[in-house]
Amino acid sequence: MCGIVGYVGPRPSQDILLAGLARLEYRGYDSAGVAVIDGDGSLGMRKKAGKLAVLRDSLADAPLPDGSTGIGHTRWATHGGPTDVNAHPHLADDDKLALIHNGIIENFSALREELLADGVVFRSETDTEVAAALLGREYAGNGGDLELAFRSVVNRLEGAFTLLAMHQDHPGLVVGARRNSPLVIGLGEGENFLGSDVAAFIEHTRKALAIGQDQIVSITPDAVTVVDFAGTPVQPEPFDVSWDAAAAEKGGWSSFMAKEVAEQPEAVANTIRGRIQDGQVVIPELDGLDELFLGINRVIITACGTASYAALVGKYAIEQWARVAVDVELAHEFRYRDPVIGADTLVVSISQSGETMDTLMAVKYARERGARTLSICNTQGATIPRESDAVVYTHAGPEVAVASTKAFSAQITALLLLGLHMGRVRGAVADASVDVAELAALPEKIASVLEGEQEHVTQLAGWMADTRSVLFLGRHVGYPIALEGALKLKEISYIHAEGFAAGELKHGPIALIEPGQPVFVLVPSPRHSALVHSKVVSNIQEIRARGARVIVIAEVGDAAVLPFADEVIHIPLAGAMFEPLLAVVPLQIFAMALATAKGLDVDQPRNLAKSVTVE
Ligand code: G6P
Repeated sequence: MCGIVGYVGPRPSQDILLAGLARLEYRGYDSAGVAVIDGDGSLGMRKKAGKLAVLRDSLADAPLPDGSTGIGHTRWATHGGPTDVNAHPHLADDDKLALIHNGIIENFSALREELLADGVVFRSETDTEVAAALLGREYAGNGGDLELAFRSVVNRLEGAFTLLAMHQDHPGLVVGARRNSPLVIGLGEGENFLGSDVAAFIEHTRKALAIGQDQIVSITPDAVTVVDFAGTPVQPEPFDVSWDAAAAEKGGWSSFMAKEVAEQPEAVANTIRGRIQDGQVVIPELDGLDELFLGINRVIITACGTASYAALVGKYAIEQWARVAVDVELAHEFRYRDPVIGADTLVVSISQSGETMDTLMAVKYARERGARTLSICNTQGATIPRESDAVVYTHAGPEVAVASTKAFSAQITALLLLGLHMGRVRGAVADASVDVAELAALPEKIASVLEGEQEHVTQLAGWMADTRSVLFLGRHVGYPIALEGALKLKEISYIHAEGFAAGELKHGPIALIEPGQPVFVLVPSPRHSALVHSKVVSNIQEIRARGARVIVIAEVGDAAVLPFADEVIHIPLAGAMFEPLLAVVPLQIFAMALATAKGLDVDQPRNLAKSVTVE
């Protein structure tokens, strides 16, 4: 939700800013802008509605003067539509000061009134311009101390924000601040960077510093200083970025999504690596937490979007292996009711980005209410793991496409690992060897689905390019996968899609079935439960009798479904808890192929942003 980049150093900043914005475009892509301070100490700015390419073209036609201090922004609109004027940066102090923002300033209305009364003239409808005007007024009033002005401004703002600003009287200085929105520092040689995440500067440095909540950072080419909102110096936490620039590039793939779907075997393997010892799951990050796992009597998993469907798979696995009650709650619902939680509750949050505001607020709330918190996250140094008692990182590598795929698989993998770890600690799993072997075999099985079904599913999607609605049915751990299959389709192909628990069909959704209605059905292996399998086969017959076009995802050799299916997509044999990681792959490919057949941009679907840092 808005990407931010800042640079100070010896090099011309414009290309560095544009390259950083290109890597952050997943955060928002309805408008973009840059500002630079040139060698003569004057500030140049350009901003354009539309994707980054529009700004890039405009700068190619009429470049800004070169300058080695700059800030850049890619926007996902909140206050004010995506227009040139509402794009960032916003200017103040007679256009000598430029400011960019990610988040929402909740008290912007009152501040705007105050500034209007003071004679300020606003050009845009944004909350951001209020912060810029406030900063300009403070700066002018304190004799030109940008850092001091920043401190006074952030203390007046309510809500969530990352702000970066620079003033033409101070070339070589960019000041930033964060509250509940992300900001990291990149350390170069004689140059420094700021970014919403490390992708902003990964091609220049892999040495980074994490900035805590309510802190202000100033970067010059040779120095980085961080203070809290009261001005007390703070030591930022260093971390190394484990992936390189190539990992965040498209390579030869047609889209980031295609690349990320194909990277799932690796994402799962990397998430498992180092977490199996002597045939047991041992998660080193959870050393010393046995008492916690023994002391709880309830787990709540909280997340949003795709991560919440991974959470649902986790519920089945953790309950089965660790024998503790697990509930799954959407973070934005959990936070705003009055849940019964306390020291005997473990709240597990799941977030690819580690920055989703709804999830972050749920974690903070859980902590305030005395619960223990553990996060599953794909982004090192992100806010949610920093706010949690413990973290289990997924190692999916950078995920750029808005629709989550490899991060989802890595999240389920981490939950399976967590379930087996807790099961061992709680003494609930007598012998985990079969499940551990299943885990280890997953990457190869996922690769075989990718290889074996890619062409078939792509062809299927091509035939269905005019379809207006698709339904997905599943039972047990197939149910969350039905939900995820429907979400993928909605997100990138804009087709109406619904996922249902197959048993719920007769309680309403079956009314939707009319001749020709495509329905994907996830069939669990009969080896796990002949009963559940037979129930799903009955469900297939029920919809088929009403004319549905049935596309079945079933394990190789499941002959019982063949007579009733129009299409069968095969997955390899796997344990019950492991099937979701195989069954989801054809659904991801299907959504991607259908969107491509409709000529849509699968990486940047309309209205969405990958990292939603507003509530
Ligand atoms: C947004 C994205 C989804 C994602 C969800 C949670 O809605 O569009 O793809 O699943 O946020 O994101 P997180 O980073 O917390 O996993």
